[in-house]
Amino acid sequence: MANVAVIGAQWGDEGKGKVVDWLASRAEIVVRFQGGHNAGHTLVVENETYKLSLLPSGVVRGKLGIIGNGVVVDPEALLAEIARIERQGLRVGPDNLRISESAPLILPLHAALDKAREAARGARKIGTTGRGIGPAYEDKVARRAIRVCDLAEPETLAAKLDELLLHHNTLLAGLGAPVFEKESLLNALLALAPKILPFAEPVWERLDEARRAGRRILFEGAQAVMLDVDHGTYPFVTSSNTVAATAAAGAGVGPAAVGFVLGIAKAYSTRVGAGPFPTELLDATGEMLGDRGCEFGTVTGRRRRCGWFDAALVRQAVKVGGIQGLALTKLDVLDGLPELRINTGYRIGGESVSRLPAAPGAQAAAEPIYETIEGWSGSTRGARSWAELPAQAVKYVRRIEELVEAPVTLLSTSPERDDTILVRDPFEG
Ligand code: GDP
Ligand code: IMO
Ligand code: MG
Repeated sequence: MANVAVIGAQWGDEGKGKVVDWLASRAEIVVRFQGGHNAGHTLVVENETYKLSLLPSGVVRGKLGIIGNGVVVDPEALLAEIARIERQGLRVGPDNLRISESAPLILPLHAALDKAREAARGARKIGTTGRGIGPAYEDKVARRAIRVCDLAEPETLAAKLDELLLHHNTLLAGLGAPVFEKESLLNALLALAPKILPFAEPVWERLDEARRAGRRILFEGAQAVMLDVDHGTYPFVTSSNTVAATAAAGAGVGPAAVGFVLGIAKAYSTRVGAGPFPTELLDATGEMLGDRGCEFGTVTGRRRRCGWFDAALVRQAVKVGGIQGLALTKLDVLDGLPELRINTGYRIGGESVSRLPAAPGAQAAAEPIYETIEGWSGSTRGARSWAELPAQAVKYVRRIEELVEAPVTLLSTSPERDDTILVRDPFEG
């Protein structure tokens, strides 16, 4: 019996939340291990739609949720999300949510710096979510972050804020943005402490005990391999590692505990922020995919850029992410298209290559090498078995499997939880 890690195989918003919610019925614990409230995971269960950013998607099934040390936690955003989800009838408390005491906090100054820097970049902006994710990870690595455990040592907070403000106010002032006052930040942290500390613990210990007791753990990734700070389309990436290996370091378990790696990919491609997108469609087909796929960012509300399925890119994600099986989502959005295209490699300056190179100039110049495949006239929407799929849709899925060099182990055919086809149970390894 394996644990499972779910990661995005494209540029995010592949449907990780839906898949994690569906798989959570087979797990006991759901763990977030990287990212922060830049993530937006939408779950549709009968007539209710849940939008989660920081809470592990297992909460909707009443599973124990854990926020690992690899996550950057905005305490205000977390409390607001808990309040929002409780208004929808769910309950979140210290008995079903645990937060690593080592997780770094996102403070208002992080979002301010994120936005000020994006504004200063002008046309070269990354298109971040503006939530302070990058600056918070920078502070962690620079050893000046205020972490969850620091809330339990209030007498140390003033000195920690001095160090943080020296850095941030210098930058903010240089960018012409308003600076922050120590007193108000300190008071805010002191007020947050009693609300956050009941959730805090060394989660690695609980995970170790769970693992020994044979309890199934589901690791929920945010963002995706092409947004990984090392393996993605740098600098148009997020500030954490999004590959499955991060689940170990970001939760405090050994690499063997991560288990089966399930990559999630849409049956086409989308991207929210700026950066290279070789198969992007700037025509009516792209518009149509955006409309039918309801491609609006859960966090940003921005229209997602849309394009054809990029098998070369997903194959790369399979390799660097250690993906053993693929969950293919949103097949239904392609219903009725007479002809589909799949990218198999790139042409860069007259040369054919099978992968996207690291250099941004080469990435921007990469032209797709398409193969064309016939579409299907029937509907896949809501299908719950292979038998319900049009033959040509099955052909499309099979061709994707060949090109990305990974089997499709799960298929999603609508936003609704149960419109899912299981080919192979990832918990069986
Ligand atoms: P995540 O960030 O990877 O969790 O994905 P998001 O939730 O941000 O975006 C995926 C969107 O697609 C959500 O609105 C889902 O409800 C929706 N979705 C997920 N799977 C399917 C599917 O198979 N078909 C359709 N039409 N929509 C889906
Ligand atoms: P989920 O988990 C899609 C993108 C932003 C921007 C870049 C950096 O829902 O798949 P950041 O705020 O992280 O510094 O922004 O990463 N981005 C996402 N795109 N889905 C996400 O999360 C994303 N999280 C960040 O649009 O291009
Ligand atoms: Mg999302």
